[in-house]
Amino acid sequence: MADRELEGRTALVTGGSRGIGRAICIRLAASGARVAVNYAADRRAAEYTRDRIREDGGVAEIYLADVGDRDSTSAMFDAVERDLGPVDLLVTNAGIARSADSLTMTAETWHEIMRVNLDGTFHAVWRAKDGMAARGFGRIVCISSVLGLVPNPITAERMIAYGTSKAAVVGFVRQCAAGLGPAVRVNGVAPGYVATDMTADVSDEAHARLTAAAALRRFGRSEEIAELVHFLLSERSSFTTGQTHIADGGYKFVP
Ligand SMILES: NC(=O)c1ccc[n+]([C@@H]2O[C@H](COP(=O)([O-])OP(=O)(O)OC[C@H]3O[C@@H](n4cnc5c(N)ncnc54)[C@H](OP(=O)(O)O)[C@@H]3O)[C@@H](O)[C@H]2O)c1
Repeated sequence: MADRELEGRTALVTGGSRGIGRAICIRLAASGARVAVNYAADRRAAEYTRDRIREDGGVAEIYLADVGDRDSTSAMFDAVERDLGPVDLLVTNAGIARSADSLTMTAETWHEIMRVNLDGTFHAVWRAKDGMAARGFGRIVCISSVLGLVPNPITAERMIAYGTSKAAVVGFVRQCAAGLGPAVRVNGVAPGYVATDMTADVSDEAHARLTAAAALRRFGRSEEIAELVHFLLSERSSFTTGQTHIADGGYKFVP
């Protein structure tokens, strides 16, 4: 992966410390971007991501911020701009999944998920957009989920809030693409099941059912999602905006 398509660009990846976000950080750095790795709690994971990038000759710094909090997100952008320059490439990846039975899910759980997955996406894009417009260049990818496009019968009754938050991200991507173009392109990525901490508690039985239902018969790897994100941030996708692109191993064939 020794392309240098993103040379000279500054990228900010929310939730870049672990899982899919870490793979995105590493991929963008390998492409020449200076990478801001955001984390909320797991500083050691963020440091690991940063150090992996530096060992490969890349540029990376870590930034603590809660994307669900507007001021915290804005302060992170201030620090990134000071250290690495204006943010040209933004990936809103930070997310949480709280499995809660549909009959007993509380309003608190609903709001907690919306705060991180939806408000967190909004706060980062809103803080980035003015600078991108002023400079006439911005590329944004928002991580949604295939569960935001269609409920999964195996998990549906426990993922109402999560699926709704991710559906809202799909709508947000469309609205922002229309509203922020032509200088800024905004796309979404909807992963299917990917092996990360988020899916670590999937039981063997559920894993077997979920993989049996996918054309490729397996969970995805974070690096496979990162490759699609990289493409959408690069100029190889120069006529693509407002779409949410599925990478789910053929789990849901959504038209
Ligand atoms: N894994 C899947 O199967 C799958 C499928 C579809 C979509 N997705 C989506 O892909 C994204 C990444 O998922 P993942 O599986 O890589 O999750 P993960 O391994 O649980 O990592 C979550 C990341 O989000 C960060 N984060 C959580 N809350 C945050 C907050 N309030 N502010 C800033 N950062 C926060 C975490 O930071 P800390 O390290 O500091 O905790 C961590 O870096 C999420 O949006 C998720 O919904 C995942």
